[in-house]
Amino acid sequence: MKKATMIMDKDFTIGRIDKRIYGSFIEHLGRAVYGGIYEPDHPTADKNGFRQDVIDMVRKLNVPVVRYPGGNFVSGFNWEDSVGPRDQRPKRLDLAWFTTETNEVGLHEFVDWAKAANTQVMYAVNLGSRNPDDARNVVEYANHKGGSYWSDMRIKNGAKDPFDIKLWCLGNEMDGPWQMGQKTAYEYGRTANEAAKMMKWVDPTIELVACGSSSHEMPTYGAWEYEMLSQCYENVDYVSLHRYYGNQTNQTADFLARSMDLDDFIMEVISICDAVAAKKHQKRKLNLSFDEWNVWYHSNEQDKEVWKQEKWGRALPLLEDVYNFEDALLCGSMLITFLRHADRVKVACLAQLVNVIAPIMTRNGGGVWAQTIYWPLMHASAYGRGTALRPLISSPVYDCSDYEKVPLVDATATLADDGSVTIFAVNRDMQEDILLDADLRAFGDLRIAEHIVLHHDDVKAVNTEANPDNVSPKAGNGGTLDGGKLEIKLPSLSWNVIRLVK
Ligand code: AHR
Repeated sequence: MKKATMIMDKDFTIGRIDKRIYGSFIEHLGRAVYGGIYEPDHPTADKNGFRQDVIDMVRKLNVPVVRYPGGNFVSGFNWEDSVGPRDQRPKRLDLAWFTTETNEVGLHEFVDWAKAANTQVMYAVNLGSRNPDDARNVVEYANHKGGSYWSDMRIKNGAKDPFDIKLWCLGNEMDGPWQMGQKTAYEYGRTANEAAKMMKWVDPTIELVACGSSSHEMPTYGAWEYEMLSQCYENVDYVSLHRYYGNQTNQTADFLARSMDLDDFIMEVISICDAVAAKKHQKRKLNLSFDEWNVWYHSNEQDKEVWKQEKWGRALPLLEDVYNFEDALLCGSMLITFLRHADRVKVACLAQLVNVIAPIMTRNGGGVWAQTIYWPLMHASAYGRGTALRPLISSPVYDCSDYEKVPLVDATATLADDGSVTIFAVNRDMQEDILLDADLRAFGDLRIAEHIVLHHDDVKAVNTEANPDNVSPKAGNGGTLDGGKLEIKLPSLSWNVIRLVK
């Protein structure tokens, strides 16, 4: 049997894991809000119209932060439309997704939902069609205690206590021609800087994310980050990264290697941040907010049909990717990549959360179920807390179309504050199981508490409402841990979580 080795030491670490790397995203898009989290006629709806069955699934997923309300949507959004009496809120055309936005769910409702779902709001302001003044007003509305125009309006609208939203996005994907109010790097950097100053003057405790490129395939990538940060470095805390992968060529081996590309992307953006810091003689390092990541391609053709049939509808079934088993493996490797960069990646949002390129699917009036990609995020959020370790890994490799020497075993490990260690590993080998031989002698007495395996014989297997457990985690066949030496079999094509406890 092929073998991979892993050596870990408790002093050999990457850094503390910010739990917000297990975040997600709800945009006013498709059936994410209407028919996803909100469906007042649903049998499980609570008094606010939110589906309790969806809230339960989100709580189980354990996402510490949820980005809202967009995405592309935010670049044409007036936040004032979403507050005040619901029956007086305007219906607007959403030019991002050719939909009608009814504003039935707005800022107050989403804050209530986030509380019920046990998560925090990461709020994006509109720097596309609007400006820094609107951005500072919404901070005042949400976070100022009272005694000013906007904060008093919040109180009048029913929320005596400030929402205390800590994390704010300065617009969304402002480099993209599809974005309302697209800007050059200089224009955006200047606008973001002025918005950031004003927002922090209103509430100095907030943290701000500046828009990086909408992907590293954009022609302006690199130059965008450098120029934009040259304008706003001093006043922002994070730069955003977005990346979606697809398996359009239907080559599983190539597809599973895409996390190598993610790794390169992260390292490049770190280098650019540090280059701007050097130029500016800044000691303070910027961190990364990977606030959109996922697989996204299955629904592309279907979306064209949806728009052909009905433009300007409400809650159109858009971006409803049905995820298969190989998608879950890549998502597992993407999470492993974030853990490997835990020192600089402090926020990451699986885009998105419900129905729209999402781990959670619903049927209007019907059930809720977990897609394949639900499981790696759930496991990582549950067990990948504490400190990211820097294991020394030696794995057999393969070559694929974009990369040479892709490790067949993609793995990392975390050390929790109670001394337990969790190994996360993807076996990318399409034919063979691989024996993982891990040296854990530095951690004292540990025992194998659990080996969770996500595997299916068919890489294209999916979960549906009728068959929700088709791709779901099972117990592994066990391994041995003797004198700090772990031997455990990673099944061919599998996501593994090996929990070692005191
Ligand atoms: O997540 C879907 C869309 O992808 C978002 O609205 C946008 O920011 C990105 O292009």
